Amino acid sequence: MKIGIIGQGYVGLTISAFAGNYFQVIGFDSNKKIVDQLNSGISHIEGVESRAIQKLIKDGRYQATCNGRDISNVDIVVIAVPTPLTTDRKPDLTYIDAACRTIGENIRNPILVINESTSFPGTLRNFIKPAIEKYSNNLVAHMYAISPERVDPGRGDFNQKNTPRLYAGLTPEASTLTQEFYSKFCDNLVEVSSPEVAEAAKLFENTFRQVNIALVNEFAQIAHSLGISVYETLDAANTKPYGFMKFTPSAGVGGHCIPVDPTYLAAVAEEHGAPATFIRRANEVNLEMSKYVVDRVQADNGGSLKGKSVLVVGVAYKPNVADVRETAAELVIEHLRSRGAVVSWHDNVVGLWKGEPSAPLKSADIVVVVTMHDSVNSADVIASAPYVFDTTGKINGVHGF
Ligand SMILES: NC(=O)c1ccc[n+]([C@@H]2O[C@H](COP(=O)([O-])OP(=O)(O)OC[C@H]3O[C@@H](n4cnc5c(N)ncnc54)[C@H](O)[C@@H]3O)[C@@H](O)[C@H]2O)c1
Repeated sequence: MKIGIIGQGYVGLTISAFAGNYFQVIGFDSNKKIVDQLNSGISHIEGVESRAIQKLIKDGRYQATCNGRDISNVDIVVIAVPTPLTTDRKPDLTYIDAACRTIGENIRNPILVINESTSFPGTLRNFIKPAIEKYSNNLVAHMYAISPERVDPGRGDFNQKNTPRLYAGLTPEASTLTQEFYSKFCDNLVEVSSPEVAEAAKLFENTFRQVNIALVNEFAQIAHSLGISVYETLDAANTKPYGFMKFTPSAGVGGHCIPVDPTYLAAVAEEHGAPATFIRRANEVNLEMSKYVVDRVQADNGGSLKGKSVLVVGVAYKPNVADVRETAAELVIEHLRSRGAVVSWHDNVVGLWKGEPSAPLKSADIVVVVTMHDSVNSADVIASAPYVFDTTGKINGVHGF
């Protein structure tokens, strides 16, 4: 079987690497630079080894392309393109629409189309299917299914094989084929009764995280105002063996999922006249954390940051990845600069960000730790400035929540 995977980013390339062990994979991406890099055997995604791509290419099981015609004779196509927010924070389905166009204009025999991109309930039925039909001039009757992606880049313990995968087809036949496809490389497949349930479950999983992160971020502020340790309190609560799950405070949330997916759920809820108050408020609390951190740093440093050299340590949105999408570090830096601080950043995993290289970890007046990669040494952070505020709770003996 030949599989076309549209989008060769975190999700699409990860799937390509797994599926390539069982099928012939054509990885379609609109970014020519990524395609050229992949065809020369270089992976740009953490968790996908260049060696794995090189082996698949050598065995004739993988090829990347920018040319839609190269997916014209696939048996299954998987959509794994971005689903961001528009500038007015509404769901942006333009990348999905473009993927539908590639499918509609190039695939003339009926196949199975699976969406892995995260979107609101109804996207498969009311957006993807009609869009592909429109772009193919209603000439082909494809089958449609959803299987939302749960990959957590940089994670070692859970991967495509051992993370249970939800799926649902628009028809029983689509469900069966989807099950057959994923069962080759995923141990635990969970069928749900409709694509809408699978789509909603994905959004709810990430909304659960977003709301609990906001709750602990708010609690960090309460604990500080009460003069008690937020970390000790959380550890104490976590001794309860049931009914509690520990989340830790941070400078905010980042990445493609937690800051974005809940807004997809809120948007569709409000469209249907249902409340999304927790989701909206959680988003605000998480966004406000960067200001809270900078307020605390300013208060600890004589009430002014004007002219102070501040080094922000860790600009990736989470440890051990180079992903800076929606990173809280960006807002922290903006607040620091707006108060007259002279800001640089250190992150050897990211290396280069917004055209600026990572600065050395030394000689600042103030250090604010936003993300702590495993490769960063706490002693080096402590030695780099007389004042350190650690938002991660990983460095002992410095300022923090
Ligand atoms: N990254 C994660 O951890 C994660 C986890 C679960 C779900 N998701 C969801 O999966 C989807 C993809 O996310 P991602 O993190 O892989 O994004 P990404 O930005 O890493 O990759 C997307 C790729 O799609 C390409 N692309 C964009 N438009 C295209 C088009 N029209 N045709 C072909 N290629 C196109 C881009 O060049 C890019 O390489 C999103 O809906 C996201 O919410 C992501």
